[in-house]
Amino acid sequence: MLPQILKTTEINPEGTNIYLIREIADLPADIFNVKENEYITKQLAEKDQNTVILNKLGHIAAICRIEADGKKTLDKIFEKCRKTGESLISILNEHKTESVCIVDTSNLQSEALAFAEGMALGNYQFLKYRKDQKEKEASLKTIEIVSQDLEQTRITELNILCNAVYKCRTLINEPASSLNAEKLSAEFEAMAVEAGIKIEILNKQKIEALKMGGLLAVNLGSIDPPTFSIMEYRPEGAINAKPVVFVGKGVVYDTGGMSLKPTTSMDTMKCDMSGAAAVASAIFAIALAKLPVYVVALVPATDNRPDGNAYVPGDIITMMDGTTVEVLNTDAEGRLILADALTYAKKYDPLLVIDIATLTGAAEAALGHYGMAGMHNNAEQYFPQLVKSGFGVSERIAEFPFWDDYEELLKSEIADLKNIGGRVAGAITAGKFLQHFTEYPWIHLDIAGPAFLDKRDSYRTAGGTGVGVRLLFDFVRDFGGNGVRD
Ligand code: BES
Ligand code: ZN
Ligand code: ZN
Repeated sequence: MLPQILKTTEINPEGTNIYLIREIADLPADIFNVKENEYITKQLAEKDQNTVILNKLGHIAAICRIEADGKKTLDKIFEKCRKTGESLISILNEHKTESVCIVDTSNLQSEALAFAEGMALGNYQFLKYRKDQKEKEASLKTIEIVSQDLEQTRITELNILCNAVYKCRTLINEPASSLNAEKLSAEFEAMAVEAGIKIEILNKQKIEALKMGGLLAVNLGSIDPPTFSIMEYRPEGAINAKPVVFVGKGVVYDTGGMSLKPTTSMDTMKCDMSGAAAVASAIFAIALAKLPVYVVALVPATDNRPDGNAYVPGDIITMMDGTTVEVLNTDAEGRLILADALTYAKKYDPLLVIDIATLTGAAEAALGHYGMAGMHNNAEQYFPQLVKSGFGVSERIAEFPFWDDYEELLKSEIADLKNIGGRVAGAITAGKFLQHFTEYPWIHLDIAGPAFLDKRDSYRTAGGTGVGVRLLFDFVRDFGGNGVRD
């Protein structure tokens, strides 16, 4: 259940309150009695202890000390706040608490927001397929914030963003049996209508007319047609005349195709449309928040399966831009569908293109779920800003080398390119393959590691994490220099 975050001015002493303090002296007088004050002081004096929880009659009071900027960077402090916020969720839900109030005693607005963000994101559940969903449902519905100078816009944006992350996670968690390419596109359409975004969904006929050979080849093994979704948000008075284009990998299920994956590697492959879900959810949030930036999101979608008619290793396919590709592994399908989308993006003469994809096991092996791999070509002007956003929202980007030399690994004897680069540098050769289809400032993000978790990690709940949504939103918000972040 997505809690609503609201700003209030009144502290209800009988309610469930969380006091964010910098030091003990910040605690409001008259809330705790002498004994309680002594207990809190003693607890906080213990090393590393920053949270004290008091179980008062019928409600809970928590005191959380927020470290001062200096020893740690602000980015780390915000992440700590999100995680501390999340750590209180289960206690609150156990007590069937419906409403909680964060009391920002020291006017630390960003910290208070981060705290609320961690609570809201940590409260996510995917209960659709459970018989006991009513009993399991989290009780928390409202997060109030008392914070003197906190602007309402920031709370509004946070609500929009948490809602978008929830949508993204649910799209990822939905099994492939009920979310094929057409259904995924229909979900995007519903989101577009809600947010006032223009959307066009190209069907198989149109995809054929455009000669999207990569998308069509991957789709050969499927009984469902592919789709290509185009979402366009162009607000009046946008600060950019040329759009920022997002491209998301929409493989609704990746069996590997004829180069079939081993069973256990397949278990989580409903997550192979996490990039698609992220770009759609990001543009959804950007439009709802009315950010003054012209943004387009493109999603090629299909499943990847073996079948009588499936494409096979050894096939040579012709991509939308005429490039021929020798397919040597049908499990390297993401780059094939993305390449056509990157070609399609040229028609916008884009300012910048960012693709986001669960592209390689190599990126996951290199970074685990702790960060995504980032590469870019010609985007010196934008890449550092994206990396900065990544730290700010804790969806971190590790830049991988992107030297020309890696292109050698993709040379084919009989076609313009082959679709795999061999044993080494798998995340980079995948990026290099994509680069072949770009001729604009371009950033590639490989989210194979952080997109999906087997086990909850604080406010990143098990299953789809929604990684990328907060990153892209933050980047676009600050794009025009009139963002509201500190
Ligand atoms: N969807 C996978 C990559 C993936 C792996 C995503 C783990 C999430 C978690 C992708 O299509 C794939 O199978 N890539 C191959 C490429 C290889 C055949 C060159 C891989 O990484 O093994
Ligand atoms: Zn694959
Ligand atoms: Zn894949």
